[in-house]
Formats: sequence, C-alpha cells, structure tokens
Amino acid sequence: MGVPAAGRLDGVAAFGTGFSSSMGHSYTPCVVAGTFVTLEGPEGSGKTVVARRLAEELQRLGRRVVLTREPGGTRLGERVREVLLGRSDLGIDPRADALLFNAARAQLVAEVIRPALARGEVVLCARFADSTLAYQGHGAGLPIDELREIARVATGGLEPDLTILLDVDPEVGIRRKAPGARNRFESIDLAFHRRVRDGFLALAREAPARWRVVDSSRHIDRVFDDALALVQAEIADPVRA
Ligand code: TYD
Repeated sequence: MGVPAAGRLDGVAAFGTGFSSSMGHSYTPCVVAGTFVTLEGPEGSGKTVVARRLAEELQRLGRRVVLTREPGGTRLGERVREVLLGRSDLGIDPRADALLFNAARAQLVAEVIRPALARGEVVLCARFADSTLAYQGHGAGLPIDELREIARVATGGLEPDLTILLDVDPEVGIRRKAPGARNRFESIDLAFHRRVRDGFLALAREAPARWRVVDSSRHIDRVFDDALALVQAEIADPVRA
C-alpha cells in the first residue's frame, strides 16, 4: 500500500482540508471498505495528539490513513468551526449548535470520510456524532433521540467501526489547557463537563461492541499504546454488525 502525502499530517492541514469533492458517492459497506475509527472524550483528554500519533504510526506500518476532525476537516467545516468555537457574542442556542455541528459533519462525511472508506483507507476522526450526543444532549439537555435523528440525516447512517473514549476527569482535562486558549465550550462550568463525561461513559456502556474506554489520566505514551492496540485489533479483525 502507498503512503499518502506527508503534508496531510502537518498541522491543521492534516485534518483534511483541500480534498476533492466526491458529492453523491454512494457508500457500500463491503469487504474492500476501509476502517472508520473515532476518538471521543471530554476536554483535554488528548484526542488530537493521540489521533496524530496513530496516523503517523499506521502510515509507518504501510496503511493509507486519513486524519480528520470535527468540527472541521473541510473548507466549509473549518468556517463553521470558527463560528462555533470563536469567542463571540452570538448567543448560539444549543439547538443551533446541534444543527451547525451536523452541517459540518454532513460535509465531512460526503467530502472526506465516505470517499476514503470506499478507497479502503483507515479514517481517524477526532470527535464525531457522539460528541453532539454528549455535549448538546447530556451536557446542554437536548433530547438524545432527536439528536440521534439529526445525526442520522447528516451522516446518511454512517457509524464508526470503532470508537475510542479517552476518558479523563474534566477537572484534570480542562486544567491541561491554558485559560486564554479555551474555546466557547471549555469556558462552560465544571458541572456541564461532568455531565458530558458521564454522557460519554453512558454511550459507551450502551454500545459495548463499538466503544472501548481508555484511561486518559495516564501518561500520553500509555494512552497512545492502548489506542494503537485497539485500532490494530479492529483492522485485523473487524467486527461488523
Ligand atoms: P476540540 O476539537 O476538542 O478542541 P481543540 O481542538 O481546541 O482541542 O473542540 C471542539 C469543541 O466543540 C469541544 O469543546 C466540544 C465541542 N463539540 C460539541 O459541543 N458538539 C459536537 O458535536 C462537537 C463535534 C464538538
């Protein structure tokens, strides 16, 4: 297998802007399809670092990898990210949050994720639809079943093969970020972030075939080792429902 351009792993460009559009592509989950892995977790759980290191290691092992993130990963998605995470006074309602995250998600699925899976590649995505369930659902109180339905429309029903929850106490996670570097969500009170964490853990308990929980309070090297072993096991022996 070939190795994608190194530029894909450099900085923000690594997260998938500049891909050619494959709108309208229909995805068929068959034996040649790739592997879709998402990393989820509360603030400061190490998703970005672990995702980047996973991509580098899998490429080194000869896999074709697409590394991307939410919100973002497309030109539209990065614009939506600026609106959602900017320190603005837009007063965005949680329902508007949910729809905007899903608008970015729809574009990412169509433009980046489905085409890469159809090429048989490994897609690593930092956050996906479960973040909306945890943040806008468990955190902000919107009904989970409604959010699932919005996400189903946005993704066309695409679900990850494997979701790794990097679990950490939000108090520890948020402390890892400098106050000046905190986004709109990171500035919300600790009680919100505790609901988000508990929400992630509840989602993981509900679908144990897809989720794996990794203790992310440990050194990042240990977290990475565990995540790599999980991804390699998924690639070697995909459990597809
Ligand atoms: P994140 O990617 O964690 O930030 P950084 O790259 O700065 O570490 O930031 C995304 C933020 O958006 C995070 O606070 C969680 C929030 N979010 C939602 O509330 N709902 C969603 O559906 C998604 C994808 C993210």
